[in-house]
Amino acid sequence: MRRAFICGNWKMNKTASEAAAMLRDLRGAVSMVRDRVEIAVAPPFTALAAAAKAIEGSNVELAAQNCHSQGSGAFTGEVSAEMLKDLGVAWVILGHSERRQLFHETDAGVNEKISAVLKAGMLPIVCVGETLAEREAGKTLDVVSTQVKGALKGFSAADGARFVVAYEPVWAIGTGKTATSRQAQEVHAHIRGLLTELWNPDTAQQVRIQYGGSVKPDNATELLSQTDIDGALVGGASLKVADFAGIVKAKG
Ligand code: PGA
Repeated sequence: MRRAFICGNWKMNKTASEAAAMLRDLRGAVSMVRDRVEIAVAPPFTALAAAAKAIEGSNVELAAQNCHSQGSGAFTGEVSAEMLKDLGVAWVILGHSERRQLFHETDAGVNEKISAVLKAGMLPIVCVGETLAEREAGKTLDVVSTQVKGALKGFSAADGARFVVAYEPVWAIGTGKTATSRQAQEVHAHIRGLLTELWNPDTAQQVRIQYGGSVKPDNATELLSQTDIDGALVGGASLKVADFAGIVKAKG
């Protein structure tokens, strides 16, 4: 049985003090789901240290939104996996569609970053998903296959079993348009099939696949009740305690 995993992706929102204030409220609002649902939040880099302090001793874990693939060196403006680990980060979101579209990230680049994250002792949340044009052209499953295979290439089943994959249709992110539970389940089942080919059936059954794209308290129950939807990666609705806790409770 896979334990549900809800992660908030705050994107470029909240200062360190705003993050700490919200997390002090959130930890109380989600404490009752402790063993049933795994919960993480991904504040911007500048708020990670304050967030780590605010969630100490709670059932909320810390995630980051990106990292560099190299351990250190002349990469102005970048942050390494080790630096994140040192702040108490457990998960790193990689290959988010905003990073792919706005910052030219590739599957090969995501693959390298996964290695860095594992080496530092953290785990990746690997994002995949098609654009509206790709869906309308009937290419959704091909696009997702290429992304999953490219990003996860070369990792052992033992490592892979602990990875999280997030299926986020680009057309559903921040738009208020959610994939129907049927559309999402179809892609999630396809991804689990790819993981079976890549590793083995046992490992594929262990990997948690989150859905992301306009998840809200009122659509979370329906999405999260699908066989292969094991959690959610939540953007806009993760910025308010009541909304995020509402999504957590939909599963808990
Ligand atoms: P959204 O974002 O929930 O605001 O659509 C999801 C994401 O980008 O991870």
